[in-house]
Amino acid sequence: MTMQARVARIHEYGDPGVIRIETDALPDPGLGEVVLQQGAAAIHFADSYMREGRYFLKPPLPTVLGLEGVGTIAAVGEGVKDYKEGDRAAYLFNMGAYADARIVPEEQLYVPPADLDDQTVVATFVRAMTAQYLLRRLYPVQAGETILVHSAAGGMGSLLSQWATSLGAKVIGTVSSPDKFLAAEENGCAHVIDYTKEDFAGAVLDITDGAGVPVVYDAVGEAAYEGNLRALAPRGWFVNYGHASGPPPIDALELNQKSLIFTKASMKDYVAAPAEKAMMMQEVVSAISEGTVKPNITGTYELADIAKAHEALDSRMTTGALVAVFES
Ligand SMILES: NC(=O)c1ccc[n+]([C@@H]2O[C@H](COP(=O)([O-])OP(=O)(O)OC[C@H]3O[C@@H](n4cnc5c(N)ncnc54)[C@H](OP(=O)(O)O)[C@@H]3O)[C@@H](O)[C@H]2O)c1
Repeated sequence: MTMQARVARIHEYGDPGVIRIETDALPDPGLGEVVLQQGAAAIHFADSYMREGRYFLKPPLPTVLGLEGVGTIAAVGEGVKDYKEGDRAAYLFNMGAYADARIVPEEQLYVPPADLDDQTVVATFVRAMTAQYLLRRLYPVQAGETILVHSAAGGMGSLLSQWATSLGAKVIGTVSSPDKFLAAEENGCAHVIDYTKEDFAGAVLDITDGAGVPVVYDAVGEAAYEGNLRALAPRGWFVNYGHASGPPPIDALELNQKSLIFTKASMKDYVAAPAEKAMMMQEVVSAISEGTVKPNITGTYELADIAKAHEALDSRMTTGALVAVFES
């Protein structure tokens, strides 16, 4: 019998109103593919970039949004070696996750820890893998360093603040509201700056006695660009991993003023080698089980309400992570 899937799809780029809920007939899984009956999918800010057509990956339209999901295998195609019908499986980065069922290549699957429920898996894995490469590999944060993390109450910022604090760093977190201020404190930030009330770069220089920070983790982009240049110490690392307000308007001569090192980082380039990916995954599983990072789901949305989740994200109403849930 042909399976059906309910999906959240866009036919044009735009505001959350472009998201449509549709029903598809699922083809049989092909060579090396499985059909995953999904329990949950992540709702990332990157999905909002995709919806607006301002992500570095611009998928051809129409497209089903969403990147990360988890569920139970409902059917396997020929040549699938390590999974069978009824197994639980998840994937990290495959367009089309806003769907109650979908096809996924076996090579993209991993087995999530049995003690984590579906919502926790998708709220945590991509973000924690990202925190792992940002804090442990791209710029290895050292105990005793004072570092700057923007959006410290958000999904990514929460995990970065928690993990960096557990490494012994003092985290200065920025936020945009009193509620987020409290959330950033709970995430371990030693100092929290509400950038709607004070100049964050000036506050960072005050906190560091004028020295500046050796690294900034920034997914704000354009709006924080000039402040980041001021807040960084000479030879500091300007790590940009997102661009909520637009891409940072990089100027080599401005970087030259303090010999700053700029990177616009993407997880795909840090998980491409299977051995590196396995190492990251292992570290993330340990970080979750040891409580180094604490999954924090602040909103769950049924497929029909995905546009509401996007509205909340776009209007900066959210802390922690949002998740899409599907009825089995
Ligand atoms: N490069 C990678 O490998 C990688 C991997 C995963 C995620 N990411 C990036 O990580 C970032 C955070 O993702 P997330 O899903 O966890 O989202 P999130 O941080 O929970 O939400 C985004 C936050 O950005 C801040 N923000 C600043 N300017 C904004 C603007 N103009 N519009 C909307 N928000 C603005 C808001 O916090 P305040 O109100 O406190 O300012 C908002 O809550 C995204 O940019 C995503 O693309 C990158």
